[in-house]
Amino acid sequence: MHTGAQYHEFMLASPRDRAVRERFQQMALDLLPAGADVLDFGAGTGIDAKVYAANGHPTFVYEPSAAMRSCLARYCRDEMAGKRIVAVASPLACRAQAVTANFAVLNHFADHGALFEELSCVVRRGGFVLASMLNPYYLGDARYGWWRANLVNLLRSGRYAIESESRIHRFAPRVVARAASPYFRMERLVPHGLGLAVQLYMFLLLRLI
Ligand SMILES: C[S@@+](CC[C@H](N)C(=O)[O-])C[C@H]1O[C@@H](n2cnc3c(N)ncnc32)[C@H](O)[C@@H]1O
Repeated sequence: MHTGAQYHEFMLASPRDRAVRERFQQMALDLLPAGADVLDFGAGTGIDAKVYAANGHPTFVYEPSAAMRSCLARYCRDEMAGKRIVAVASPLACRAQAVTANFAVLNHFADHGALFEELSCVVRRGGFVLASMLNPYYLGDARYGWWRANLVNLLRSGRYAIESESRIHRFAPRVVARAASPYFRMERLVPHGLGLAVQLYMFLLLRLI
């Protein structure tokens, strides 16, 4: 799996990923009130953070990987020098109107209960979490043995994990919504219905209760 500079170059060069990213960024920007602050959780190399900051949103970034962080520090050097982007060592070190988590950050978690409890302390009243996650119903993955082998798990429990893929977990949207439900209400799922069959990523909008 790519990390740091390799990840950065790959993501910027991939037309398919760029198109998905633009849709996610546009959804976040449409939802954010003017000047509202945002925490980019699992910010990677800062591709989204740079865009949020350029659109007038003070942006916090939390990123656990040192390789990703050092790339982010180079890519967002000017914004960090001007405090338009601020790195935090823990999500709890900031408060923001919104938390974004683009490109499968939440698929690194086996369970989201503790995470949503933590994020409920970060998000301001009326705010939201917007996450892009790998869509377990994407039919493009049906050519893979691991997808077919996990179909029963998906239908029974709404979740499964793939050992060979850095232990990436996949979740039906209702499982994420249930984990979030003491603190957040699922407001939107994009795509939904039959649209889920044709998109690798799904966007979940969860509003603080
Ligand atoms: C596919 S990358 C996406 C990076 C970035 N959000 C983007 O849009 O390019 C997944 C990111 O999730 C981060 N990550 C992994 N485990 C995490 C955790 N427990 N908390 C926060 N971020 C995590 C990784 O370090 C990595 O940067």
